[in-house]
Amino acid sequence: MKKIGILKEQAGESRICMTPIVAKRVIKELEYVVLIEAGAGHSAGFSDEMYVEVGAQILSRAELVNQADVILFINPLEAQLEITADKMLIGILNPLFRPELLAAYENKHIKLFSLDLMPRSSKAQSMDVLSSMASLAGYKAVLKASDLHTSVLPMFTTAAGTIKAAKVLVIGAGVAGLQAIATAKRLGAIVEAFDVRKSAGEEVRSLGAKFVEVEGAVENEKAGGYAVEQTEDFIQRQKQLIDKHVSEASIVISTANIPGRKAPILIEKESVDKMKPGSVIIDLASEQGGNCVLTKDNEKINHQGVVIIGNSHLARELSATSSQLLSTNYFNYLKHLKWVETENIQADPLYEGCLVMNNGEMVHERVLSFIK
Ligand code: NAI
Repeated sequence: MKKIGILKEQAGESRICMTPIVAKRVIKELEYVVLIEAGAGHSAGFSDEMYVEVGAQILSRAELVNQADVILFINPLEAQLEITADKMLIGILNPLFRPELLAAYENKHIKLFSLDLMPRSSKAQSMDVLSSMASLAGYKAVLKASDLHTSVLPMFTTAAGTIKAAKVLVIGAGVAGLQAIATAKRLGAIVEAFDVRKSAGEEVRSLGAKFVEVEGAVENEKAGGYAVEQTEDFIQRQKQLIDKHVSEASIVISTANIPGRKAPILIEKESVDKMKPGSVIIDLASEQGGNCVLTKDNEKINHQGVVIIGNSHLARELSATSSQLLSTNYFNYLKHLKWVETENIQADPLYEGCLVMNNGEMVHERVLSFIK
């Protein structure tokens, strides 16, 4: 019987990719043995006992690595694992942006899958870890910003006078941006959004927000639903328009990303200078360099009274929900791999789409093309 092992993440990571409820499903529905590294679920609120209750086994890291056929984790591993027999490793490695981290997996016995490379098809939606996490990050970004912002979001009519609703600007109306728009609307803010993909306009408007468009954006159908790099001329025109909207906004949530590239700088210092003290910028693109020129990744800074937070992992602050969604994404991928194996499928887009390394060699065409 196949053994699935779940590693304990490093300090600072509060999520786990297998909750006890999903561990139970793996045991019952997939008929696999589940091995959990001791303490792996603690920071997400799941004790070792909870895993034992559903039939999983608790092991040390060395025992787990030795016994498991498939090893699951979220973040790139800090240290190489001692692997001497063929194993599958499944994580979220961001290889398009951090290919150097793949060096740790150049082991002949490893098949390495990175779930952030999941193709964007309807079949793959239930396995799409980026969408799950982006959705939570967009929601949390608005809550965090409204907490730090020194005024209210909805219009307030009181005996002491009427207070106007706050303006929230969302840059990048993808998964995180759309969730940020929906959350800000629910809180009563006036919401505007930018994106380079025309199709995003309809989604923005359907949430009751205003779509601000800059003519001449480059789109590529082959980009799999993602944005592509824009021309310098376009970015300059976009920055000028963003400048006007940023200066009027109380809260800016920026999420603009291009896979494998540095995030575009869309908010210059001069634009932030025009914002009122007490305003807030949450830059969810900070790990890829940020959309605001002042952003510092994993830091909260104060620029003339404007708070700027650089954080691409806000989903970590919702450890229970993010663990629940991640676990379901991982479960669905395990189930899919089982189907590929039992049906002896020779070419499968979701298998090949996520397989980065095979027997120590880089095999992913998209990753290879980004490295060249
Ligand atoms: P992402 O995280 O790579 O980028 C976020 C947003 O930034 C995107 O909407 C992108 O168009 C936008 N952006 C990039 N450069 C920009 C610029 N210069 N100015 C303004 N905006 C800019 O993308 P995300 O959110 O992961 O997904 C993007 C789209 O992919 C979704 O909205 C959807 O259409 C599609 N998708 C499809 C799925 C499926 O079919 N399974 C699942 C998830 C997303």
